[in-house]
Amino acid sequence: MAEPLVIAENASRRFGSGPTAVDAVTDVNCRVEANDRIAIIGPSGSGKSTLLHLLGNLDQPTSGTVAWPALGVAEALRPSRVVDIFQGPSLIPVLSVNENVRLPLLLAGTALADADAIANEALALFEVDHLRDKLPEELSGGQAQRVSIARAIAVRPWLILADEPTGQLDSATAIRVMSRLLRAADELGAALVVSTHDARIADRLSTVWSMAGGRLTTSPAGQGWEVPRASLGSLRPEPIQEGVPR
Ligand SMILES: Nc1ncnc2c1ncn2[C@@H]1O[C@H](COP(=O)(O)OP(=O)(O)O)[C@@H](O)[C@H]1O
Ligand SMILES: [Mg+2]
Repeated sequence: MAEPLVIAENASRRFGSGPTAVDAVTDVNCRVEANDRIAIIGPSGSGKSTLLHLLGNLDQPTSGTVAWPALGVAEALRPSRVVDIFQGPSLIPVLSVNENVRLPLLLAGTALADADAIANEALALFEVDHLRDKLPEELSGGQAQRVSIARAIAVRPWLILADEPTGQLDSATAIRVMSRLLRAADELGAALVVSTHDARIADRLSTVWSMAGGRLTTSPAGQGWEVPRASLGSLRPEPIQEGVPR
């Protein structure tokens, strides 16, 4: 069996020290395998964002370990093996939409003409290709969110970490964007880990992990509760015209 993409063992993250210390994540054990579809649910402040940061090496545990057996050393994860979709604004303000999506591709060594074509294809997948020459400040929150998602999938990652990726979208758009994100992950063979408040989004992922007070609950096998796959089928979009080639 292939090695897991991520393994966390007794991973904890404490912010600060002394009496005011905050234990954001406590003793988490989990693993993400290739092609996993995981929702992390839990109330605000339960540690979802902190856990995603640990799983993506954007932050390090104060005790315990996080490792990426199938992806290599921590320094090798970006720009193209692991990608992040954040809650808030993450586009570079002085770059156009197309330039924002192109940038990680260029950093990964893709030729400019190819990067341009892939960027446009990824933008089209999330229905924001008409905005390619706009600056981030000219976009609505929802449009910027979709551009961020396009930027993430354009590099053809192995692992997509998304922190409330549909939080700024109206509910119909949220469902359509989530369906396309799933579809892109399917085409890429990428694993997807999504934190969400939205039960309808969590329902679209086959595994649900639950956070409460910094502690993560998965099933004994570490894979959470299985939601029947059949429930996903009716929610898939029409086949998208152009996939993003790996
Ligand atoms: N950089 C930080 N410094 C201090 N406390 C933090 C920091 N980031 C998060 N926290 C605290 O850690 C806890 C978990 O936060 P977070 O991971 O953002 O939860 P969630 O994403 O589930 O809302 C909260 O109590 C939050 O206030
Ligand atoms: Mg959060």
